[in-house]
Parts: sequence; structure tokens; C-alpha cells
Amino acid sequence: MPCNCCEMENNTFGEDEAKANLKDYRKRGPANQTKLILEAVRSLGLKDASLLDVGGGIGTIHHELLKDVASEATHVDASSAYLKIATEEAKRLGHEAQVKFIHADFTDVAESLQQADVVTLDRVVCCYPNMRELLKAASSKSRKAIVMTYPRETWYIRMVIAVTNLWQRLIKDPFRVFVHPVNEMESLLMGEGLKRTSTRRLFVWEMALYQRT
Ligand SMILES: C[S@@+](CC[C@H](N)C(=O)[O-])C[C@H]1O[C@@H](n2cnc3c(N)ncnc32)[C@H](O)[C@@H]1O
Repeated sequence: MPCNCCEMENNTFGEDEAKANLKDYRKRGPANQTKLILEAVRSLGLKDASLLDVGGGIGTIHHELLKDVASEATHVDASSAYLKIATEEAKRLGHEAQVKFIHADFTDVAESLQQADVVTLDRVVCCYPNMRELLKAASSKSRKAIVMTYPRETWYIRMVIAVTNLWQRLIKDPFRVFVHPVNEMESLLMGEGLKRTSTRRLFVWEMALYQRT
């Protein structure tokens, strides 16, 4: 179990889910909230950038950005199933030599990682109880920007997540989903020298781009 928290285990994001995500990606391209991240990174106008994708799942962000924006990427993920699929897809696309895959809880290994121009967290803060530790580690590794998506703070999202977490409790699965307060994430990142320069919203997800001031 690579995570330092008891809430998320390696099999929370397992092989079936990873395969289904890959099938969707091949059929329809990046998911809508991931597209917002890709657009935000592209808006920075970087070339040959380095990426650090935390909780990158099947690797959509580096599969896409290695085409035009980035020349190297590090993908840290707590799920070995997701990492396996991401590695296979990177091989198929011919860019596996440009990606370093690390199976770990990011907060455990962040200190040992090099900084990257852009750090991305697509639907990751909502899986992790200690948002402060996660975002502090992410900001310490970001030279230019952090881009992330997280669930919006709306009544309907709170309701769905409350029901999801109740179900998780009933089936005795320790994994929980979190809606971390956006203003707390923002003040933490501002304290780390980052400023929010773009926000976009979908029905469920919000995307925020933070840049170094
Ligand atoms: C909901 S999935 C999102 C995957 C992908 N980013 C996407 O949007 O399709 C959450 C991912 O974050 C990973 N994750 C969550 N907390 C993590 C942490 N502290 N360190 C590394 N990976 C983490 C999980 O293993 C999982 O792959």
C-alpha cells in the first residue's frame, strides 16, 4: 500500500477502471475537465516544458502535452493499475522515454523529485484527505504554474458526495471523497507565492490555474 493515509489503498483505482478510462480516452479524447487543464497549460505559451502530473491516472495530460508543449514529464500515482495502463499507452504513442513513472503517494516522495515548470492535479485533491500537505508539496515542485481540477462547492455536489461517502461507509471501504474549501486552497497557494489567473467551471468540476507571481 503506497499511500501514507489509510483512506486510499492501491486498489481504490483498480485495473477495470483504468481500462475503462483508456477506452474512453481512445474513443473520445480527453475528458471535459482534462481539456480545461490542457487549454490552461497551453495558454502559458511554453515550449519544451517539464511537467509533473500528480495522480495522472492513465496519463492523458502527458500523452497530450508531449505533442506540443512539453519535452519531459513525471507521473506520480498511488495506483499501480493506472500506472501500468499509462506506461503501456505511453509506449504505444512512442514517448515512454520522455516520461518517468513513479508509484507512490506524492507527499511521500515530493522531496526527492526535481521541480517542473508545470504541476497538474486533475481530480486528485478530492481523493486526498490532507489537502494542505498535498498542495504544499505540489507548489514546492512548481517553477511556473499549478493547474488543477476539483469538485465545485455546490449543494448538489455536496449531496452526491455525502451519499457516495455514506455508501463507502456501508460497504466498509475506507476510501472517501472530499470537497476541500476553494478559499482554503487559494489562500494556501497564495501563501506559497502563486496567484490564481484563470478559473473555468463545468457542472461538476472547477479548473484553476495558478501562476508564480
Ligand atoms: C479520480 S483519479 C483521477 C485520475 C486522472 N487524473 C484523471 O483525471 O483521469 C485520482 C488519481 O489520483 C491518484 N492519487 C490520489 N492521491 C494521490 C497521492 N497523494 N499521490 C499520488 N497519487 C494520488 C489516484 O491513485 C488516482 O490515480
